[in-house]
Amino acid sequence: MLSVNELTSLEEELSKASKKGLKIGLVPTMGALHDGHMELIKQAHLHSDYVIVSIFINPLQFNQAEDFINYPSNLLKDSNKLKNAGVDLLFNPDAKLIYPKEPAVKIDFGVISHKLEGAFRLGHFEGVGLVVMKLFNLIKPNVAFFGLKDLQQFILIKHIIKEFSYPIKLQGVITVREKNGLALSSRNAHLSPSGIKIAAQIYKGLIWAKNNFETFKSTDELKVQLNDFYKKQEGLSIEYCEVLNLNKFKPLKSLKNGKKTALCIAAYVEGVRLIDNIFLRE
Ligand code: PAF
Repeated sequence: MLSVNELTSLEEELSKASKKGLKIGLVPTMGALHDGHMELIKQAHLHSDYVIVSIFINPLQFNQAEDFINYPSNLLKDSNKLKNAGVDLLFNPDAKLIYPKEPAVKIDFGVISHKLEGAFRLGHFEGVGLVVMKLFNLIKPNVAFFGLKDLQQFILIKHIIKEFSYPIKLQGVITVREKNGLALSSRNAHLSPSGIKIAAQIYKGLIWAKNNFETFKSTDELKVQLNDFYKKQEGLSIEYCEVLNLNKFKPLKSLKNGKKTALCIAAYVEGVRLIDNIFLRE
């Protein structure tokens, strides 16, 4: 595996790959790689010929300095995992390369970027959108792979690709879970064994909602009952739970409209912020 952290070598490698007619697959990450990332890489191998993984902890998408500082990082361990997974190139730029100066241009990514994660983490999606566009511009992948655990991010990127006319195929990759249902996340590393047990209740609630959603009169009723379910779990504090139309990521009132629907949730356990979701209707 080649590891590059500057543009000249990146461009050289990209040009070699494109001369060979290889289909380039990009897996953007912030490192602290777990089996969820490995699934993205597995899909990238299946759907492209030359797999690039980027590792960049993007300061612009953290709304709290402390969260950025505490974000887990272990480049050596990550790099070994990527080598074993047969990745062709690791792009590991530093912040100066991505943001040589404070960005003079700010892009507002619209209504999707302002709700849920965007409302609770102000500026988050401006940072995500900007860095993803930069990675798309630098790497020009044919296919890009993003996890569906970050469903709002995935839907926003789908719109960015369409509206900014990127010739990139977007591939969503299923959420990988622990045996107890907890969605894999780099943040799980901050949880104690008992915190992990509590956090596993998040998915239990989502499954319960999916199994029962036909019986609710409205999304409000579903949310009230789901919150009651979670209130019984000591140590779990729900930040939001929302039922949304999958295409436009618009909150839904009625469950009877036949639209593709997802239930998204954010919660805190031991001060760690966790997100998850489930498709109620696909
Ligand atoms: O999902 C992530 O890990 C990040 O938001 C991403 C897409 C790599 C952008 O920094």
